[in-house]
Amino acid sequence: MDRFIIEGERPLVGTIPVNGAKNAALAIMAGALLAEDAVTLHNVPRLIDVQVMSEVLGSLGVAVRPQGGGSLRIDASTLTDHTCPYDLVTKMRASFFVLGPILARLGQARIPLPGGCAIGSRPVDLHLKGLRSLGAKVTIEHGYAEATADRLVGAPVYLDYPSVGATETIMMAACLAEGTTVIDNCAQEPEIVDLAQFLSKCGARIEGAGTEQIVVHGRRRLGGCEHATIPDRIEAGTFMIAAAITRGDLTLEGIRPELVASLISKLQEIGATVAVLDQDVVRVAGDGPLQAADVRTMPFPGFPTDLQAQIMSLLAVLPGTSVISETVFENRFLHVDELLRMGANIKTEGNVAVIQGVAELTGAPVRATDLRAGAALVLAGLAARGQTVVSDVHYIDRGYQDIEKKLSAVGGKISRTGVTDPILA
Ligand code: EPZ
Repeated sequence: MDRFIIEGERPLVGTIPVNGAKNAALAIMAGALLAEDAVTLHNVPRLIDVQVMSEVLGSLGVAVRPQGGGSLRIDASTLTDHTCPYDLVTKMRASFFVLGPILARLGQARIPLPGGCAIGSRPVDLHLKGLRSLGAKVTIEHGYAEATADRLVGAPVYLDYPSVGATETIMMAACLAEGTTVIDNCAQEPEIVDLAQFLSKCGARIEGAGTEQIVVHGRRRLGGCEHATIPDRIEAGTFMIAAAITRGDLTLEGIRPELVASLISKLQEIGATVAVLDQDVVRVAGDGPLQAADVRTMPFPGFPTDLQAQIMSLLAVLPGTSVISETVFENRFLHVDELLRMGANIKTEGNVAVIQGVAELTGAPVRATDLRAGAALVLAGLAARGQTVVSDVHYIDRGYQDIEKKLSAVGGKISRTGVTDPILA
């Protein structure tokens, strides 16, 4: 399996281009199933998760053709199968997002329930509750969610929690329902806004995406379109934190500053210099005095849970005491044990971590346990004294395109060993 070899204590200096958003691309690829004509997506990152989603669509009879340069053509006019294989869904939770679109298009869907993962049990009860509200009959049998509906009917839906996936599932299904659907207490993440903009280009009528209430007026059919995904705010945020932890000076290009406002505010509180140089350029310098700060993860626009592990690596080497409260997932501190092996001083109690900053981390062999924990260990290795070897980097490849090449290009000493997955070549 691939590993990263990292030599630390090198400030990162230079410019990094940001790729398209993984979590927008995956939702939009599922949404493409609603369109009866071909769609073309641009700015799609080259990631293992995108590859898996392409395989999921292929298993449904839908052609996914790379067009080069990060563009994909998806033709769901040939959507024939209403079920997809268990092994694909267990590879990636987002595969479950095809349930709503298939049900809306074919009147039936049988999708394996996604198992839990490292960061939590990841239930889908809110997805299923929403589809039932739209008139679907949903049962769970033999590890599959089976949903049927002659035609979905628009209805009011209240989400007990602003779940990103559940909001996307219900919004997509509602596009082909008869009448109007109002989703209250929905998630407001930028990836939902991007999905809504894609669906609107296909002919959907959606209002309020990005607010706590989304209104969808159902249509009989959706057609094709062309769409470019938004930049990946989590990839961008990861590199912004890399600038601070290595005491470097990085310029991120192709970023939307308003999508990382909570991180910009937190980095400035810590003492980093953050400048918005243009509507799509942000510069972060960490060469001044930095200090501890508290972090509480929240649904957007709060501080994103997907940057919690990464900022913990930074806080681990800042003077003072920081407290991180992880309010979104129940088990998202798996990176703590690995950071302790590098000399960090962190104590966790439930979903709270207390970090006593140390003068330095020391390089060590560590293991990525999930996507963002792996990224956090890369950041820690870039700052640590000596060599860090990160194993199981396939988790990192799920969400970061060419991360070692991007970091090497700005002065990081990081190389990949092992058998590289062909899609990464
Ligand atoms: C999306 O996952 C993202 N994944 C995650 O990114 C991200 O961490 C998460 O949103 C939160 O922002 C994709 O978009 C592919 P949720 P999702 O439903 O939709 C509970 C990454 O690193 N919940 O908002 O699965 C759930 O258990 C990944 O890129 C229910 O209880 O997240 C969790 O505690 C990791 N019932 C909370 O809500 C449900 O039916 C938030 O989950 C659904 C969710």
